[in-house]
Amino acid sequence: MNTHLQHILDIIDQIGSVTDEQKQALTSALKSAEKEMMVLNFKLDRTEKVKHTTSILLETTIEELDLKRKAIEESNLALEKSLTDLKAAQDQLIQQEKLASLGQLTAGIAHEIKNPLNFVNNFSDLSVELIEETKEELSAVSDQLSAEDREKVQEALVILKDVELNLRKIHEHGTRADSIVKSMLEHSRGSSGKMEPTDLNALVKEYVNLSFHGMRAGTNPINVDINLELDESIEDVPLVAEDFSRVILNLCNNGFDAMKDKLSAISDQDSASYKPKLTVRTHFENGEVVVEIEDNGIGIPEEMKDKIMQPFFTTKKGTEGTGLGLSITNDIIKAHGGQMDVYSQPGQTVFTIKLTT
Ligand SMILES: Nc1ncnc2c1ncn2[C@@H]1O[C@H](COP(=O)(O)OP(=O)(O)O)[C@@H](O)[C@H]1O
Ligand SMILES: [Mg+2]
Repeated sequence: MNTHLQHILDIIDQIGSVTDEQKQALTSALKSAEKEMMVLNFKLDRTEKVKHTTSILLETTIEELDLKRKAIEESNLALEKSLTDLKAAQDQLIQQEKLASLGQLTAGIAHEIKNPLNFVNNFSDLSVELIEETKEELSAVSDQLSAEDREKVQEALVILKDVELNLRKIHEHGTRADSIVKSMLEHSRGSSGKMEPTDLNALVKEYVNLSFHGMRAGTNPINVDINLELDESIEDVPLVAEDFSRVILNLCNNGFDAMKDKLSAISDQDSASYKPKLTVRTHFENGEVVVEIEDNGIGIPEEMKDKIMQPFFTTKKGTEGTGLGLSITNDIIKAHGGQMDVYSQPGQTVFTIKLTT
């Protein structure tokens, strides 16, 4: 029996005034109390054990739930990524599709226009020669004419001079139209469209050089300091080389034009201290290849920035600009899955191309 109960029994034993019957009743009451206590103890013990197992089960369930939550989070992330990848691929496809149909259309138009344009250009040129000859003939006979007739011949010569000027204008603008048509044809002819690992730095070097020498050989050449900052750690980049080389050419050509514009905009005094400079950089940034083409030319006015990418937008006079350079450039970069941004303030323009590799 439980020691405390036994102790109570011992004390009752020692009390003389308690009868045997009373003792017996007390003893049996104490024994039943002990039994009840044992049952309660047993139940308590069992409850403890159940509690313990439940808590262990709960912990493992929580752990499992946590693992599942993490797995779901990961697959969510993967899903989100593939969704953005899919969207990018879709954008690129749409862009290529647009380019293809636009290309066919422009090729068709350009091809149709090319022949009549050739007539315009060739015949205006030929007519200038004919007028020259006519002028010579008239001058040759004018000695043998009467004073009155000579005056008439003089009038005819003045008119011929005007016609000649008109023909020269026709020829000048015809030539501009021809270069636009050529650009359109070149653009629409497209390329093999094959992305191949290309030495980007070598391509940049080659085409910056080509653009520079082209400018030097053209009308109104200027001196330009060419500054190449190429990150040699850039390895081969997947590119359609013949397209991307046109990007570099177009952007450098625009840079040189902007420097010429600046030179003609500033006074002779300032032009002595102005040093035209073209900087071309390549580097890696957040897993992207970045190409920057910076010039210290005239800059792009704020209100013009959203127009420069539009096909045929040009500020260049006469036959100098087709307005197709940046539009073609932007299309090529988009077809590479890249992006082009422009930053400009007076005296500084930076075109930034970002390509994901
Ligand atoms: N680096 C630059 N600096 C200043 N203006 C520029 C620059 N690049 C482009 N532009 C502006 O954007 C216009 C459009 O350029 P582009 O599409 O190459 O056509 P184009 O060179 O035949 O005019 C240019 O006429 C010029 O006004
Ligand atoms: Mg241009």
